[in-house]
Amino acid sequence: MIVSIDQDACKACGICGQVCPRHIPVTADNNGKKITMISSERIDLCIECGHCTAVCPNQAIQIKCFNEEDFAPLEKLDIDDHQFLLLMKQRRSVRRYKDKPVPRETIDRIIDAVHVAPTGTGRMTTGVIVIDNPKTLATLSELAYGLYEGLEKNLKNPIARFFIRRQVGEKKVRMLQDFVMPGMHWYIRWYREGKSNEILRDCPALMLFHSPIYEPVSAENCLIAAFHAIMMAQVMGIGTCFNDLIPPACNRVPEIRNLLGILDDREVYASITMGYPKYQFKRIPLRKLAEARYL
Ligand SMILES: Cc1cc2nc3c(=O)[nH]c(=O)nc-3n(C[C@H](O)[C@H](O)[C@H](O)COP(=O)(O)O)c2cc1C
Repeated sequence: MIVSIDQDACKACGICGQVCPRHIPVTADNNGKKITMISSERIDLCIECGHCTAVCPNQAIQIKCFNEEDFAPLEKLDIDDHQFLLLMKQRRSVRRYKDKPVPRETIDRIIDAVHVAPTGTGRMTTGVIVIDNPKTLATLSELAYGLYEGLEKNLKNPIARFFIRRQVGEKKVRMLQDFVMPGMHWYIRWYREGKSNEILRDCPALMLFHSPIYEPVSAENCLIAAFHAIMMAQVMGIGTCFNDLIPPACNRVPEIRNLLGILDDREVYASITMGYPKYQFKRIPLRKLAEARYL
Protein backbone atom coordinates (compact mmCIF):
# COMPACT_ATOMS: atom_id res chain seq x y z
CA MET A 1 0.00 0.00 0.00
CA ILE A 2 1.58 3.35 -0.98
CA VAL A 3 -0.34 5.23 1.72
CA SER A 4 -0.49 3.88 5.27
CA ILE A 5 -2.06 5.10 8.48
CA ASP A 6 -0.60 4.66 11.95
CA GLN A 7 -3.82 3.85 13.79
CA ASP A 8 -2.22 4.55 17.20
CA ALA A 9 -1.37 8.13 16.21
CA CYS A 10 -4.48 8.80 14.05
CA LYS A 11 -7.29 10.75 15.76
CA ALA A 12 -9.67 10.13 12.82
CA CYS A 13 -10.18 13.87 12.28
CA GLY A 14 -10.74 13.14 8.55
CA ILE A 15 -8.77 16.17 7.26
CA CYS A 16 -6.47 13.96 5.14
CA GLY A 17 -9.49 12.65 3.22
CA GLN A 18 -10.84 16.19 2.74
CA VAL A 19 -7.64 17.55 1.19
CA CYS A 20 -7.03 14.45 -0.96
CA PRO A 21 -8.22 15.17 -4.53
CA ARG A 22 -9.47 11.57 -4.81
CA HIS A 23 -10.73 11.17 -1.21
CA ILE A 24 -8.47 8.15 -0.70
CA PRO A 25 -8.37 8.29 3.13
CA VAL A 26 -11.95 7.65 4.32
CA THR A 27 -13.13 8.40 7.85
CA ALA A 28 -16.17 6.40 8.94
CA ASP A 29 -17.93 5.09 12.00
CA ASN A 30 -16.75 1.65 13.10
CA ASN A 31 -18.83 0.19 15.98
CA GLY A 32 -19.37 3.64 17.53
CA LYS A 33 -15.72 4.68 17.06
CA LYS A 34 -14.46 6.86 14.20
CA ILE A 35 -11.63 5.38 12.17
CA THR A 36 -9.72 6.55 9.07
CA MET A 37 -8.89 3.87 6.52
CA ILE A 38 -7.36 3.89 3.04
CA SER A 39 -9.92 3.22 0.31
CA SER A 40 -8.80 0.04 -1.47
CA GLU A 41 -11.10 1.05 -4.36
CA ARG A 42 -9.29 4.36 -4.95
CA ILE A 43 -5.72 3.80 -3.71
CA ASP A 44 -4.57 3.28 -7.31
CA LEU A 45 -5.77 6.82 -8.09
CA CYS A 46 -3.20 8.34 -5.67
CA ILE A 47 -1.24 11.11 -7.44
CA GLU A 48 1.43 11.13 -4.72
CA CYS A 49 1.00 14.85 -3.97
CA GLY A 50 1.81 14.31 -0.27
CA HIS A 51 -1.07 16.55 0.88
CA CYS A 52 -2.40 13.92 3.32
CA THR A 53 0.92 13.75 5.19
CA ALA A 54 1.49 17.49 4.96
CA VAL A 55 -1.89 18.30 6.55
CA CYS A 56 -2.05 15.60 9.26
CA PRO A 57 -1.86 17.23 12.71
CA ASN A 58 -0.69 13.94 14.28
CA GLN A 59 1.92 12.70 11.77
CA ALA A 60 -0.22 9.59 11.41
CA ILE A 61 -0.28 9.14 7.64
CA GLN A 62 2.70 8.14 5.53
CA ILE A 63 3.15 8.00 1.81
CA LYS A 64 5.73 5.61 0.43
CA CYS A 65 7.35 7.88 -2.15
CA PHE A 66 8.33 10.38 0.58
CA ASN A 67 10.65 10.06 3.59
CA GLU A 68 9.79 11.75 6.89
CA GLU A 69 12.44 14.44 6.28
CA ASP A 70 10.90 15.26 2.91
CA PHE A 71 8.27 17.29 4.78
CA ALA A 72 9.77 20.61 5.85
CA PRO A 73 8.24 22.63 8.69
CA LEU A 74 6.38 25.82 7.71
CA GLU A 75 8.14 29.16 8.19
CA LYS A 76 6.51 32.54 8.80
CA LEU A 77 6.47 34.66 5.64
CA ASP A 78 7.68 38.25 5.75
CA ILE A 79 5.86 39.45 2.61
CA ASP A 80 2.48 41.13 2.16
CA ASP A 81 0.11 41.60 -0.79
CA HIS A 82 1.53 45.05 -1.59
CA GLN A 83 5.11 43.74 -1.79
CA PHE A 84 4.07 40.70 -3.78
CA LEU A 85 2.02 42.72 -6.29
CA LEU A 86 4.92 45.17 -6.66
CA LEU A 87 7.24 42.28 -7.40
CA MET A 88 4.87 41.09 -10.15
CA LYS A 89 4.31 44.60 -11.56
CA GLN A 90 8.03 45.30 -11.70
CA ARG A 91 8.86 42.08 -13.51
CA ARG A 92 9.80 42.81 -17.11
CA SER A 93 10.88 40.64 -19.97
CA VAL A 94 14.60 41.42 -20.08
CA ARG A 95 16.11 41.03 -23.55
CA ARG A 96 19.50 42.72 -23.16
CA TYR A 97 22.10 41.34 -20.79
CA LYS A 98 25.44 42.40 -19.37
CA ASP A 99 28.40 40.41 -20.63
CA LYS A 100 28.75 38.75 -17.23
CA PRO A 101 28.15 35.10 -16.34
CA VAL A 102 25.43 34.19 -13.86
CA PRO A 103 27.08 32.24 -11.01
CA ARG A 104 25.96 28.61 -10.79
CA GLU A 105 24.99 29.11 -7.12
CA THR A 106 22.51 31.76 -8.29
CA ILE A 107 21.15 29.43 -10.98
CA ASP A 108 20.89 26.60 -8.43
CA ARG A 109 18.84 28.89 -6.18
CA ILE A 110 16.56 29.71 -9.13
CA ILE A 111 16.14 25.98 -9.75
CA ASP A 112 15.10 25.61 -6.08
CA ALA A 113 11.99 27.58 -7.05
CA VAL A 114 11.39 25.39 -10.10
CA HIS A 115 11.25 22.19 -8.02
CA VAL A 116 8.14 23.49 -6.24
CA ALA A 117 6.13 24.47 -9.33
CA PRO A 118 2.71 22.79 -9.48
CA THR A 119 2.20 20.08 -12.09
CA GLY A 120 -1.01 19.04 -13.81
CA THR A 121 -0.97 15.39 -12.83
CA GLY A 122 1.06 15.69 -9.63
CA ARG A 123 3.86 13.73 -11.32
CA MET A 124 7.33 15.25 -11.16
CA THR A 125 8.33 14.67 -14.76
CA THR A 126 9.60 18.12 -15.78
CA GLY A 127 13.35 18.44 -16.31
CA VAL A 128 15.59 21.50 -16.52
CA ILE A 129 18.74 21.95 -18.60
CA VAL A 130 20.89 25.05 -18.09
CA ILE A 131 23.29 26.01 -20.85
CA ASP A 132 25.87 28.51 -19.62
CA ASN A 133 28.79 27.46 -21.78
CA PRO A 134 29.34 30.23 -24.41
CA LYS A 135 30.55 27.71 -27.00
CA THR A 136 27.48 25.50 -26.59
CA LEU A 137 25.24 28.58 -26.76
CA ALA A 138 26.98 29.66 -29.97
CA THR A 139 26.56 26.20 -31.55
CA LEU A 140 22.91 26.13 -30.51
CA SER A 141 22.39 29.58 -32.05
CA GLU A 142 23.97 28.57 -35.33
CA LEU A 143 21.82 25.43 -35.58
CA ALA A 144 18.65 27.34 -34.64
CA TYR A 145 19.30 29.97 -37.32
CA GLY A 146 19.78 27.12 -39.79
CA LEU A 147 16.33 25.79 -38.91
CA TYR A 148 14.65 29.17 -39.34
CA GLU A 149 16.49 29.94 -42.57
CA GLY A 150 15.21 26.66 -43.98
CA LEU A 151 11.73 27.42 -42.71
CA GLU A 152 11.71 30.88 -44.32
CA LYS A 153 12.63 29.33 -47.63
CA ASN A 154 10.14 26.47 -47.34
CA LEU A 155 7.22 28.67 -46.33
CA LYS A 156 7.62 30.57 -49.62
CA ASN A 157 7.34 27.31 -51.58
CA PRO A 158 3.67 26.19 -51.99
CA ILE A 159 4.50 22.48 -52.02
CA ALA A 160 6.78 22.65 -48.98
CA ARG A 161 4.16 24.89 -47.27
CA PHE A 162 1.52 22.22 -47.89
CA PHE A 163 3.63 19.61 -46.07
CA ILE A 164 4.49 21.99 -43.21
CA ARG A 165 0.77 22.71 -42.80
CA ARG A 166 0.04 19.00 -42.72
CA GLN A 167 2.73 18.47 -40.09
CA VAL A 168 2.06 21.36 -37.71
CA GLY A 169 -1.52 22.44 -38.55
CA GLU A 170 -3.10 25.58 -39.98
CA LYS A 171 -2.98 27.61 -36.74
CA LYS A 172 0.77 27.14 -36.34
CA VAL A 173 1.49 27.98 -40.00
CA ARG A 174 -0.53 31.20 -39.61
CA MET A 175 1.37 32.06 -36.45
CA LEU A 176 4.65 31.44 -38.22
CA GLN A 177 3.68 33.49 -41.28
CA ASP A 178 1.99 36.38 -39.48
CA PHE A 179 4.00 36.69 -36.26
CA VAL A 180 7.25 34.74 -36.11
CA MET A 181 8.77 34.90 -39.59
CA PRO A 182 8.40 38.65 -40.33
CA GLY A 183 10.66 39.34 -37.32
CA MET A 184 12.81 36.31 -38.02
CA HIS A 185 13.57 37.65 -41.50
CA TRP A 186 15.46 40.51 -39.85
CA TYR A 187 16.95 38.34 -37.11
CA ILE A 188 18.54 36.08 -39.77
CA ARG A 189 19.83 39.05 -41.71
CA TRP A 190 21.40 40.72 -38.66
CA TYR A 191 22.92 37.42 -37.49
CA ARG A 192 24.46 36.66 -40.88
CA GLU A 193 25.78 40.24 -41.09
CA GLY A 194 27.38 39.73 -37.65
CA LYS A 195 25.30 42.58 -36.18
CA SER A 196 23.34 40.79 -33.46
CA ASN A 197 21.94 37.49 -32.28
CA GLU A 198 18.24 38.09 -31.67
CA ILE A 199 17.38 34.43 -31.11
CA LEU A 200 19.54 34.00 -28.00
CA ARG A 201 20.25 37.71 -27.47
CA ASP A 202 23.79 36.96 -26.25
CA CYS A 203 22.37 35.64 -23.00
CA PRO A 204 24.94 34.22 -20.57
CA ALA A 205 22.55 31.40 -19.66
CA LEU A 206 19.61 29.62 -21.21
CA MET A 207 17.22 27.46 -19.20
CA LEU A 208 15.24 24.75 -21.00
CA PHE A 209 12.22 22.98 -19.56
CA HIS A 210 11.50 19.53 -20.95
CA SER A 211 8.92 16.88 -20.30
CA PRO A 212 7.97 13.43 -21.60
CA ILE A 213 5.82 13.51 -24.73
CA TYR A 214 3.31 11.17 -23.01
CA GLU A 215 2.72 13.62 -20.14
CA PRO A 216 -0.78 15.02 -20.77
CA VAL A 217 -0.03 18.56 -19.58
CA SER A 218 3.64 18.80 -20.51
CA ALA A 219 3.50 22.26 -22.10
CA GLU A 220 1.56 23.78 -19.22
CA ASN A 221 3.87 22.17 -16.64
CA CYS A 222 6.94 23.55 -18.39
CA LEU A 223 5.48 27.06 -18.76
CA ILE A 224 4.56 27.22 -15.09
CA ALA A 225 7.98 25.85 -14.10
CA ALA A 226 9.57 28.53 -16.28
CA PHE A 227 7.49 31.21 -14.61
CA HIS A 228 8.65 30.04 -11.19
CA ALA A 229 12.22 30.48 -12.44
CA ILE A 230 11.39 33.91 -13.85
CA MET A 231 9.98 35.20 -10.55
CA MET A 232 12.79 33.72 -8.45
CA ALA A 233 15.37 35.17 -10.83
CA GLN A 234 13.77 38.59 -10.50
CA VAL A 235 14.15 38.75 -6.73
CA MET A 236 17.79 37.78 -7.21
CA GLY A 237 18.42 40.61 -9.68
CA ILE A 238 18.56 38.32 -12.73
CA GLY A 239 16.61 39.33 -15.81
CA THR A 240 14.81 36.70 -17.88
CA CYS A 241 12.68 36.44 -20.98
CA PHE A 242 10.55 33.60 -22.34
CA ASN A 243 12.01 32.36 -25.61
CA ASP A 244 9.58 30.59 -27.94
CA LEU A 245 12.09 30.25 -30.77
CA ILE A 246 14.35 27.78 -28.99
CA PRO A 247 11.94 24.91 -28.10
CA PRO A 248 11.03 24.12 -31.77
CA ALA A 249 14.73 24.12 -32.62
CA CYS A 250 15.48 21.72 -29.73
CA ASN A 251 12.66 19.43 -30.81
CA ARG A 252 13.19 19.44 -34.58
CA VAL A 253 16.94 19.64 -35.10
CA PRO A 254 18.63 16.26 -34.36
CA GLU A 255 22.06 17.92 -33.90
CA ILE A 256 20.59 20.11 -31.15
CA ARG A 257 18.93 17.12 -29.45
CA ASN A 258 22.31 15.39 -29.52
CA LEU A 259 24.22 18.44 -28.34
CA LEU A 260 21.91 18.88 -25.36
CA GLY A 261 21.36 15.19 -24.63
CA ILE A 262 17.57 15.36 -24.88
CA LEU A 263 16.11 11.87 -24.56
CA ASP A 264 13.96 10.51 -27.41
CA ASP A 265 10.74 10.44 -25.36
CA ARG A 266 11.07 14.09 -24.32
CA GLU A 267 10.44 17.49 -25.85
CA VAL A 268 11.38 21.00 -24.78
CA TYR A 269 8.20 22.99 -24.10
CA ALA A 270 9.58 26.22 -22.65
CA SER A 271 12.81 28.14 -22.48
CA ILE A 272 14.03 31.33 -20.87
CA THR A 273 17.12 33.41 -21.49
CA MET A 274 18.73 34.87 -18.38
CA GLY A 275 21.43 37.25 -17.30
CA TYR A 276 22.17 40.46 -15.44
CA PRO A 277 19.99 43.18 -17.01
CA LYS A 278 21.97 45.62 -19.16
CA TYR A 279 19.36 48.36 -18.70
CA GLN A 280 17.04 49.19 -15.79
CA PHE A 281 13.37 49.93 -16.49
CA LYS A 282 12.39 53.26 -14.88
CA ARG A 283 8.60 52.95 -15.17
CA ILE A 284 5.93 50.25 -15.13
CA PRO A 285 4.01 50.04 -18.43
CA LEU A 286 0.22 49.71 -18.19
CA ARG A 287 -0.98 46.12 -18.40
CA LYS A 288 -4.72 45.43 -18.61
CA LEU A 289 -6.69 42.23 -19.16
CA ALA A 290 -9.25 42.08 -21.96
CA GLU A 291 -11.77 41.77 -19.12
CA ALA A 292 -12.11 40.92 -15.46
CA ARG A 293 -15.66 40.34 -14.30
CA TYR A 294 -17.82 38.54 -11.81
CA LEU A 295 -20.98 36.62 -12.55
C1 LIG B 1 4.19 32.25 -23.41
C2 LIG B 1 5.08 33.42 -23.70
C3 LIG B 1 6.00 33.34 -24.72
C4 LIG B 1 6.84 34.40 -25.00
N1 LIG B 1 7.78 34.28 -25.97
C5 LIG B 1 8.64 35.29 -26.19
C6 LIG B 1 9.66 35.18 -27.18
O1 LIG B 1 9.77 34.18 -27.88
N2 LIG B 1 10.50 36.21 -27.36
C7 LIG B 1 10.40 37.36 -26.62
O2 LIG B 1 11.20 38.28 -26.82
N3 LIG B 1 9.45 37.51 -25.68
C8 LIG B 1 8.57 36.51 -25.44
N4 LIG B 1 7.62 36.63 -24.47
C9 LIG B 1 7.57 37.86 -23.66
C10 LIG B 1 6.42 38.76 -24.07
O3 LIG B 1 6.70 39.37 -25.28
C11 LIG B 1 6.22 39.78 -22.94
O4 LIG B 1 5.76 39.10 -21.80
C12 LIG B 1 5.24 40.86 -23.29
O5 LIG B 1 5.72 41.65 -24.33
C13 LIG B 1 4.97 41.77 -22.10
O6 LIG B 1 6.16 42.34 -21.57
P1 LIG B 1 6.56 42.12 -20.04
O7 LIG B 1 6.80 40.64 -19.86
O8 LIG B 1 7.78 42.92 -19.80
O9 LIG B 1 5.40 42.57 -19.21
C14 LIG B 1 6.76 35.58 -24.20
C15 LIG B 1 5.83 35.64 -23.17
C16 LIG B 1 5.01 34.59 -22.93
C17 LIG B 1 4.02 34.69 -21.79
